Amino acid sequence: MTDARRRVVVTGRIPVDGTDLLEAEHDVWAWDSSDPISRGELLQRVVGADAIVSLLTERIDGELLDAAGPQLRVVANVAVGYNNIDVAACGERGVVATNTPGVLTDATADIAMALILMATRRLQEGERVIRSRQPWQWGMFYMLGTAIQGRRLGIVGMGQIGAALARRAKAFGMTIAYSNRRAIADDLAAELGCVRMEMDELLATSDVVSLHCPYSTETHHLIGAYELEAMRTSAYLINTARGAVVDEAALAEALASGKIAGAGLDVFEHEPAVHPKLLELDNVVLIPHLGSATVETRTAMATLAAANVLAVLHGEPAPTPIA
Ligand code: DGY
Repeated sequence: MTDARRRVVVTGRIPVDGTDLLEAEHDVWAWDSSDPISRGELLQRVVGADAIVSLLTERIDGELLDAAGPQLRVVANVAVGYNNIDVAACGERGVVATNTPGVLTDATADIAMALILMATRRLQEGERVIRSRQPWQWGMFYMLGTAIQGRRLGIVGMGQIGAALARRAKAFGMTIAYSNRRAIADDLAAELGCVRMEMDELLATSDVVSLHCPYSTETHHLIGAYELEAMRTSAYLINTARGAVVDEAALAEALASGKIAGAGLDVFEHEPAVHPKLLELDNVVLIPHLGSATVETRTAMATLAAANVLAVLHGEPAPTPIA
């Protein structure tokens, strides 16, 4: 098994460092378009695959695994989020599922911090004014934002990315609270100076709420009308996790009616579609899922996904299996 060239299917374009590693040992077929592969084409292309390298735009479920066939050994997602993969279906078929944790922590935390700064300082509005060629003039009361120093950041989901954001926010003078199923280690809590809270308290007392939990049936619409109502009218919501963690219609309503002050969104419930009402609002920053979008990060993600494939095809443990 270890010496034979195997068939690896890559469901979308990934950085060449990843494909080079795979091609050195195996026969690789890769979808070569910036548009996602259609489901029909994917079902045909995976037939006979020993490994699938998937992007978050592809659904990897029982039907797809069965289409690939019983020789399939590994599905390596080029993302830390893996809500596109039916992990149980992989397990039932003896297929190892892997993701890319760690390598995109800083890039995603940077984007969350950027969204906090943009939303609270109204940078998206300012940029739009300049580009629209509207007349403008410096003024004492012109386009005032909100200072974040001394304000509380409430982090929902204190994993690696949440902690990396906490470090950044602390450097900007914010205080940190978090809500998590489990308490974080004492030394990390001491380093971040953060307190753990129940979700209700976090929502009611935070000036900025930032979402960093994985998407699952449990976190579907974790933030809906009730939670938005519980937030301060002066508060901001930041989402760099997955769109459907937030009820987008309820968020649009809360932003329009002033129930919360603003939001910064990198992800959307029906991506790439964006709720039409959000597009009309000035108090929301909208960016197209850029959390991990740096050359360095995407290269590291592709390289890690390739390392997962190579390890499993060599009969070794995957470096980053989905637990
Ligand atoms: C991930 O890895 O889950 C990110 O959303 C990709 O940018």
